[in-house]
Amino acid sequence: MSAPVVVALDGVSKSFDGGATFAIRGVTLTVRRGELVAIIGPSGSGKTTTLKTVNRLIDVDEGRVAVAGEPVDALPPHALRRRIGYVFQGIGLFPHYTVAENIAVTPQLLGWPRPRIAARVRELLDLVQLPQSIANRLPAELSGGQRQRVGVARALAAEPAIMLMDEPFGALDPITRDTLAAEYRRLHERLGLTTLIVTHDVLEALMLADRIVVMRAGEVAAQGSPQELLAFEGDPRVAQLLDMPRRHAERLERLLRDAVPMRG
Ligand SMILES: Nc1ncnc2c1ncn2[C@@H]1O[C@H](COP(=O)(O)OP(=O)(O)OP(=O)(O)O)[C@@H](O)[C@H]1O
Ligand SMILES: [Mg+2]
Repeated sequence: MSAPVVVALDGVSKSFDGGATFAIRGVTLTVRRGELVAIIGPSGSGKTTTLKTVNRLIDVDEGRVAVAGEPVDALPPHALRRRIGYVFQGIGLFPHYTVAENIAVTPQLLGWPRPRIAARVRELLDLVQLPQSIANRLPAELSGGQRQRVGVARALAAEPAIMLMDEPFGALDPITRDTLAAEYRRLHERLGLTTLIVTHDVLEALMLADRIVVMRAGEVAAQGSPQELLAFEGDPRVAQLLDMPRRHAERLERLLRDAVPMRG
């Protein structure tokens, strides 16, 4: 028996300029409990818009969005957002708050007692593998990778069951990015989370996700497991997108075959 559906979009459309052009159109997707689902697609294809409908940072024009079986407009937006952790590009850390204060934002809104918040901050720093010694630093005093870790810790602070992530590791060097992505996958499993993540990195999606939703021009062009999508034979542009990591791997293999050892 498969796990219950936690996030469901059904025929969701949104336009921004009075209906002249659609940011997304007829988007239908589901995320089951415990799944990590990645949304991929080119710039402007509607990934961020889709994600933001889930916690009502964007209200839809048409269609239905449900979280844990309830329509998202059944709750006031702030109540919904406190139940869902999110890490969005452009919604950064508060620059004048310390690391600890940033992580504590939602627990504080929820009125947790101070000792519980302090304990939670310590626990989260460990969880995202940051040293306790940075708790009193400001975001400007951290590296990009450390800031991303604080962002993940802040999103997890009030123990949400659902996480929304929009290019959370986007602006990082490839090694840090790879490490953080793999670590997040382990956290997702360990904490039993349900995650919807946006990335434009096809390889990251293939390596990380249980299922992938491919968007193109505001619509869902394909969806399936990484294995299913690697064998996709529909829209050639989608097939080409999904085939990119394989082409890179083949090129790398050729380079490695011809590589000449160098002595330093
Ligand atoms: N607030 C807005 N006002 C007007 N148009 C918008 C707004 N937000 C998004 N759009 C438009 O909707 C479309 C989809 O945007 P969206 O941000 O969802 O794309 P995306 O797939 O996340 O792109 P990227 O990979 O560049 O982040 C784009 O054409 C964009 O210009
Ligand atoms: Mg985006």
